[in-house]
Amino acid sequence: MCGIVGYLGEGNVYDILIKGLHRLEYRGYDSAGVALVSPSGNINVFKAKGKVANLESFCQSKDLSARAGIAHTRWATHGEPSDVNAHPHFSEDGNIAIVHNGTIENYKLLKDVLEKHGCSFHSETDTEVLAQLIEYIRVTNKCSLLDAVREALKQVVGAYAIAVVAKDDPDTIIAARQSSPLAIGIGENGSYFLASDASPFVEYTNECVYLKDGEIAEIRRGVPLKITNLNNEESTVDVTTLQLSISQLEKGGYPHFMLKEIFEQPSTLRDCIRGRVVADGDRININGVNDNKEKFRNAKRIVIVACGTSWHAGLIGKYLLQDMCKVPVVVEYASEFRYSNPIINADDVVIAISQSGETADTLAAIQIAKEAGAFVFGISNVVGSSIPRETYAGCYIHVGPEIGVASTKAFTGQVMVLTLLALAIAQIRGTLSDEEIAKVGKCILKLPDYVEQVLKLSPQIERLSLIYTYARNFLYLGRGYSYPVALEGALKLKEISYIHAEGYPAAEMKHGPIALIDQEMPTVIIAPQDHLYEKIVSNVQQVKARGGSILAIVTEGDSVIANLADHVLEVPDVPECLSPIITSVPLQLLSYYIAINKGKDVDMPRNLAKSVTVE
Ligand code: F6R
Repeated sequence: MCGIVGYLGEGNVYDILIKGLHRLEYRGYDSAGVALVSPSGNINVFKAKGKVANLESFCQSKDLSARAGIAHTRWATHGEPSDVNAHPHFSEDGNIAIVHNGTIENYKLLKDVLEKHGCSFHSETDTEVLAQLIEYIRVTNKCSLLDAVREALKQVVGAYAIAVVAKDDPDTIIAARQSSPLAIGIGENGSYFLASDASPFVEYTNECVYLKDGEIAEIRRGVPLKITNLNNEESTVDVTTLQLSISQLEKGGYPHFMLKEIFEQPSTLRDCIRGRVVADGDRININGVNDNKEKFRNAKRIVIVACGTSWHAGLIGKYLLQDMCKVPVVVEYASEFRYSNPIINADDVVIAISQSGETADTLAAIQIAKEAGAFVFGISNVVGSSIPRETYAGCYIHVGPEIGVASTKAFTGQVMVLTLLALAIAQIRGTLSDEEIAKVGKCILKLPDYVEQVLKLSPQIERLSLIYTYARNFLYLGRGYSYPVALEGALKLKEISYIHAEGYPAAEMKHGPIALIDQEMPTVIIAPQDHLYEKIVSNVQQVKARGGSILAIVTEGDSVIANLADHVLEVPDVPECLSPIITSVPLQLLSYYIAINKGKDVDMPRNLAKSVTVE
């Protein structure tokens, strides 16, 4: 949700900022801009509506010389996407410029006060208010940029990651964070980088400092980084060594990140499993669980909080944990949980799932759970992100950077970790025998190979997608473990092809959605051979009887559904608890090809952003 980049050093400032913006474009892409602090002491601000490429075209004939700069790619919150609402914003006197990710909740109040003091505003954004406030304080108090930022932030309610530059202080960038991520890269020869995540500077340095909530960084050319808080108390500078590689951030020969990430799943699943399924599959080893055995042994209930695709993974987690650990599980949308007066007890284990580790609602839900005394466990992908830091223990999914906005490999990674977690907790609680654990453990070791086999369906799915591309509505049905897979399949299609799709528990269909079925609306049915197989065959028949067209995902060799459905995609036979990983992959490919047939930008679907750091 909005990407920020900053740079101060001897390199080509504009090029570094633009390259960085491209890396962060997954966070938002409705407008972009740069503020360049020129060698002559001016701040040149260039902005353009649309993607970063539009900004580049706009900048072609401009003076781009700079000694420092900040840049932004936007996902609109306050004010429509437009040149004027694009960041950077500057103070009325043009002396300071700012980029911001987050929302200033009390911006209206602050704006009213500033207007009374004679400030006028040009954009509809909350960020311009912050720019004017900082400069107003700087001029009135005759103080440094750092002190002005600190004083301004004391008056702000909301979430922010900001970077600020001033005309008369060209070798300084002031950065601060509260609830929105910000990473600082320490470069060579006294240079510094700044970004919403480390991807924009990974090729220049692997030394990174993740700013914490309430911290302000004073980034000065050639001077050691100084971090203080709003009370001007100095914090230690914790330098992390980045493990990212550039190849993980590139398309690697695929036309889109989404396709690359779908095809990466055999290897991401191997990375996710590595070291966790041990003794030839006989035992499961999750450090975050082993270190907290008592919490998991004594848990009376597990509450899962997440949003979007991660919430779908959480729903699968419910089936896994209830089946294997015999513990009651509830799964809540984090956004609903936080405002529902949730009843959380000290003997609850709360599991927060988030690819980005930065989702604002999930972070808020974690806070509530911690205040209620629950043990909070995080499942995340992004190392060093807020959720792993805010939870008591956790487990990374280790699938590498996911750049396609529609989540694919992170979803299967989350489901894999939840499966391992359920097995590890079952070991502790004694709810599965050693033989039962070993049976699943051995299959998990083979699962990446099965996913490889499923990916071979790609040409067949590409052909089938042509038949389904022009449907205006889709229904996705599944039961048991396949019900959340249906929800996720429908979400993927909606997100990238803009076709309306609804996921439903197959048996619920007759309580309403069956009225929609006709030849125009395809139904995708996820029907592996599990303990509900006979039931779903009846659901297939019910759709067929009403003239609906059916695409079914079935276990290989299934002739019953093959005779009823218009098309089938056969996947390998795996234990029921592992079927969601196998059946979700063809649905990812189906969405991908349909969106491509419709000419959509699958990596950057309209209105979406990858990391939702605002409410
Ligand atoms: C869908 C998708 C979103 C995210 C949701 C939560 O493809 O990516 O629905 O799953 O915004 O994001 P995280 O997992 O980062 O908390």
